[in-house]
Amino acid sequence: MLKLHNIKKNYISGNETVKALQGINLEFRESEFVSILGPSGCGKTTLLNIIGGLDRYTEGDLIINNISTKQYKDRDWDTYRNHSIGFVFQNYNLIPHQSVLSNVELALTLSGVSKEERKKRAKEVLERVGLGDQINKRPNQMSGGQMQRVAIARALVNNPDILLADEPTRCIRFNNKHSNYGNIKGNC
Ligand SMILES: Nc1ncnc2c1ncn2[C@@H]1O[C@H](COP(=O)(O)OP(=O)(O)OP(=O)(O)O)[C@@H](O)[C@H]1O
Ligand SMILES: [Mg+2]
Repeated sequence: MLKLHNIKKNYISGNETVKALQGINLEFRESEFVSILGPSGCGKTTLLNIIGGLDRYTEGDLIINNISTKQYKDRDWDTYRNHSIGFVFQNYNLIPHQSVLSNVELALTLSGVSKEERKKRAKEVLERVGLGDQINKRPNQMSGGQMQRVAIARALVNNPDILLADEPTRCIRFNNKHSNYGNIKGNC
């Protein structure tokens, strides 16, 4: 479903070029659960950002459902991101002054879903991650693990084909009824 062909990514920083990815070849099939491991600075976030359409590769090709993205326009990337990808960011990127429910609903505003439907779906997914009784709180009133579950709910609410999570193990709970690992695994 996703194929990375000789992906390279250079960052220009002042007059220095950082070669963050130097020819990655990888293939992901449907219903696969994949972990990418490596030391700090090796390029994990860079790779996820490229797979998720948040950043562009410098060279190579990302092939999505057998179609090359070499000719992709911004609009094509927007569509891919909005419909196919759910992203749990390394620092969650929640909006601190908005409620948990609004944070999750927000992910649906670009999908043309009505307000009532947005609220219904956001509530459902928050129930699923065990936060049904926390929807009116703000993210800064929650624990790290709870914030992470809000971020997971926000990534899942669009029912994406691919869920990408940057460093999902930071707050992982393996034995909890609402295990974050289980939430991810059970939904992809
Ligand atoms: N915007 C940028 N401009 C210049 N260099 C960058 C930029 N973003 C990342 N880098 C560099 O690219 C390399 C890969 O960074 P990346 O964030 O992908 O690493 P990582 O594997 O996610 O690290 P960590 O485990 O610490 O999160 C690093 O050397 C980093 O300094
Ligand atoms: Mg990183």
